Amino acid sequence: MNISNPPSPAGRDVHRIAVGADHAGYRLKNHLAALLLKKGLKVRDMGTDSPHSCDYPDFARAVANAVASGEVDLGLLVCGTGQGMAMTANKVPGVRAAVVLDTFSARAAREHNDCNVLCLGARVCGTGLAEDLLNSWLAASFQGGRHQARVRGMELSGGGV
Ligand code: RB5
Repeated sequence: MNISNPPSPAGRDVHRIAVGADHAGYRLKNHLAALLLKKGLKVRDMGTDSPHSCDYPDFARAVANAVASGEVDLGLLVCGTGQGMAMTANKVPGVRAAVVLDTFSARAAREHNDCNVLCLGARVCGTGLAEDLLNSWLAASFQGGRHQARVRGMELSGGGV
């Protein structure tokens, strides 16, 4: 299998991030995108651009493809629960998407699993927690070492559709 975005070396710098959401995550996505811009990151907003009802897989796929192709370093997806976004994004080879609800998991997802797409649930966590989750995930970096082979092992289970 040709994986265009293999496990990243430990401590890789992050400059570009793609963000996406459905109607349920639209407001939180915009709020977090503004936060990312303030941090100096280059943000690629892949929609949705309004609170009108839409289908989360369209946005999950767009962000996941941007990450897998290396156009961006990381992705952030927001829907009602984060679940549908993660399930869809994880179908794209090279993407390791995780829904997180606590800061320990947000950090560990990056340090241990080299999570390259963070999925948040706007109907599950408030703005303050969402900010903390994003900050914890961004501040962490993949530790490599014993985790490298395990992350590679994820690809053995496939993931394409
Ligand atoms: C939309 O109502 C909702 O199903 C969606 O935002 C998400 O929670 C799916 O996983």
